[in-house]
Amino acid sequence: MTRITITGRRQLTGQVRAAGAKNAALPILASTLLGGGDCQITNLPQVRDVATMNTLLSLLGASVKQDGNKVVINTDTVQSLEAPYDLVKTMRASVLVLGPLLARFGEAIVSLPGGCAIGPRPVNLHLDGFKKLGATIELAHGYIRAHTTGLKGQRIDLETPTVTGTENLIMAACLAKGTTIINNAAMEPEIEDLANFLNTRGANIMGAATGRIMIEGVSQLHGAEYTVMPDRIETGTYLIAGMVTGGDVEVHHCIPGHLDSLISKLRECGAEVHETTDSIRIKAPKRIQALDVQTFPYPGFPTDLQAQMMAMMSVADGTSVITENVFESRYLHVPELQRMGASITVDGSRAVVKGVPQLTGAQVMASDLRASAGLVLAALAAEGETQITRVYHLERGYERIEDKLQGLGAIVHREPASA
Ligand code: EPZ
Repeated sequence: MTRITITGRRQLTGQVRAAGAKNAALPILASTLLGGGDCQITNLPQVRDVATMNTLLSLLGASVKQDGNKVVINTDTVQSLEAPYDLVKTMRASVLVLGPLLARFGEAIVSLPGGCAIGPRPVNLHLDGFKKLGATIELAHGYIRAHTTGLKGQRIDLETPTVTGTENLIMAACLAKGTTIINNAAMEPEIEDLANFLNTRGANIMGAATGRIMIEGVSQLHGAEYTVMPDRIETGTYLIAGMVTGGDVEVHHCIPGHLDSLISKLRECGAEVHETTDSIRIKAPKRIQALDVQTFPYPGFPTDLQAQMMAMMSVADGTSVITENVFESRYLHVPELQRMGASITVDGSRAVVKGVPQLTGAQVMASDLRASAGLVLAALAAEGETQITRVYHLERGYERIEDKLQGLGAIVHREPASA
């Protein structure tokens, strides 16, 4: 198992380019299962989760030709309809193949994703939506078996605005007979990216990212070329890296409008933030002001930046209260931050963070993708050396993170973990 070692207290300065958005790439790749010829997708982030999705598509029989940040996929040769447990357990977003397989082949067998470090992560809303569209769902031996003799457009009212649930139902509705309306749909920009991709392939989707999505089913799709949107969570992570090191960092090839909630919080903490159409530059204040943060579905403050914000609040002036409203238990980074000297108390969904003058480097362990990003930021701010193990969590969603941090002046390197 590899680990990364960071020597903290180095001011980060300079420019870094945002990679393509992992959470847009995953549904876009899965949606190629709807068929219709060659899809050329560019600006793919070279991260573990994208590799896993491409492996799953190949396993189902698709032709997947990846070359760096580009992939050409043709799913005319798909002959298996089963996403096996061994693969799904490594990436719960594999559940995104359910909707397209069901819509195109009338059948899909997908391992239940199971829980993960940040909560039980049920998929009941996905399955209820498929049933509404005319599928029968059977749960047995840890697998979801979905079947239909033909999906029919329906009105679906989502209890909570589930991101991958909205994406799964959009994909299924694309080939359903008639019109589907999804109410209380998630409004994350990644959903709009998926809808844009599908519409370039001949789908008929209106209202993506508005909370109410209408899909007119079509008989088939055709191939297309598409460029994945920039990753707003990676962008936000580097902006906070600039903050915690008292630096001056500019992220380019990003979409500032996707980060309004973070930018207003960083300004509240005393940062100077300059935006252009495709870049955000942040100049850190001498001392970061404490402030309260609540996570919400988009356009609220993103849960995927909560751990990163907590790392920053750990060294702010004053006490901050962080409230995690999206997931049941997304505080696994807290004990690791406490090992570095952070003063945090968790009570249910609330974490009270009392800023300390200085964190100290320590050996810490990553637990999930965004928690590990929070540990990296804490390490950049800490006095001394921090070793982070289980970095495969980090590799799932951050492309070449050591290179990008080194490019900003950080002292970071990767080594095989001794144990
Ligand atoms: C997506 O996960 C993202 N993953 C997550 O990013 C992100 O944290 C999350 O949305 C929230 O923004 C991808 O896009 C691949 P949800 P998803 O369904 O779709 C409950 C990362 O770091 N719920 O919106 O799984 C659920 O328990 C990852 O890249 C149900 O109850 O999240 C949670 O409390 C981590 N039943 C809430 O809704 C369901 O059927 C939001 O979950 C589905 C969800």
